[in-house]
Amino acid sequence: MTANANDSLGQLIEQWIKPEIRSMSAYHVADAQGMIKLDAMENPYDWDDSIVESWMETLRNVHLNRYPDPGADQVKQQLRDVMNIPASQDIVLGNGSDELIQLLALAVSAPGKTLLTVEPGFAMYRQISLVTELSFQSVALTADFELDMPELLSQIEKQQPALVFLAQPNNPTGNLFGEDKLRQVIEAAPGLVVIDEAYTPFTDADYLNLADEYNNVLVMRTLSKAGLAGLRLGLLIGNPRWIAEFEKIRLPYNIGVLTQASAEFALKHFDVLRQQTNLIREERANLYQELSNIDGLRVWNSEANFILFRTQSGQAKTIFEGLRARHILIRCLDGAHPLLKDCLRVTVGSAAENEAFLKALRAVL
Ligand SMILES: Cc1ncc(COP(=O)(O)O)c(C=O)c1O
Repeated sequence: MTANANDSLGQLIEQWIKPEIRSMSAYHVADAQGMIKLDAMENPYDWDDSIVESWMETLRNVHLNRYPDPGADQVKQQLRDVMNIPASQDIVLGNGSDELIQLLALAVSAPGKTLLTVEPGFAMYRQISLVTELSFQSVALTADFELDMPELLSQIEKQQPALVFLAQPNNPTGNLFGEDKLRQVIEAAPGLVVIDEAYTPFTDADYLNLADEYNNVLVMRTLSKAGLAGLRLGLLIGNPRWIAEFEKIRLPYNIGVLTQASAEFALKHFDVLRQQTNLIREERANLYQELSNIDGLRVWNSEANFILFRTQSGQAKTIFEGLRARHILIRCLDGAHPLLKDCLRVTVGSAAENEAFLKALRAVL
């Protein structure tokens, strides 16, 4: 392309792409080639060969020439069964829960409307607010990552948010805020409160009952953390009247035939995923203990499949790079939020992966 053509392309983009989008960066995913990958809260375990074989058999019967079942009714029924979703609640499915956050934002977005959440929190709430032209507002957690109730309630009163997102357990801090506080938020919020239970396989806490109890509560879940991150299947659970509204803007065939067939298969074998996530919970306890025994680290308890820890001042980036040089990829959160100064987040992997991480960590400290 000539320099002139390049300039005029730049002008066209500037003219037609919204400034909010031009100033954004695309969601960055670190290159994990050859790495022990402990950065993205994935389940480290594969399926046994026999299960893979019968999954392949299932896929043989999928018709790629046909559009998928638009409602994915079979998948929804199986999700109801494995997650004990009551008949009083309906489900809308998304291409990962990320798509459901976008769908919620699109459904309420209008000039002057606000999405409120807490930070440090899940980055997509902010990203999607920007794209959908919702005003993004956040309230900082306290230094020990609890909800700052006076400030949160005051911001709810002031901002009158259309949407409040609270992840339980919270990413990247791994903690639960407690039901009493959730109820106070729900009762104060004029609009929808979405409890994002992405990490539900790793905690006994479950707030599905709040969607039955309150008119303004929805619960969002995903199969990603249970062991199906590659499938991209999220679900939003709530009163059928809310769900009917969201169904109007869901793109008709957002869950493809391969995803539906694979989800049906995986949900039939959900006991395998449960065994894996229970193992991850055990490994989390070991990893927490080992990290806590290392001098100079502050480690937070986690109800999720990752652990947040703080290094000594100014060390986080060096440690992150040192680990990377040893082929261990975790997440450096230093700089992402003032409360995350010197913090790193490691996903709980298999016993061997955690051991390799700890060995490398001890070597770089
Ligand atoms: C709190 C929270 N919600 C939602 C998601 C997105 O999950 P999905 O893979 O279903 O898009 C994540 C992913 O890390 C998350 O941490």
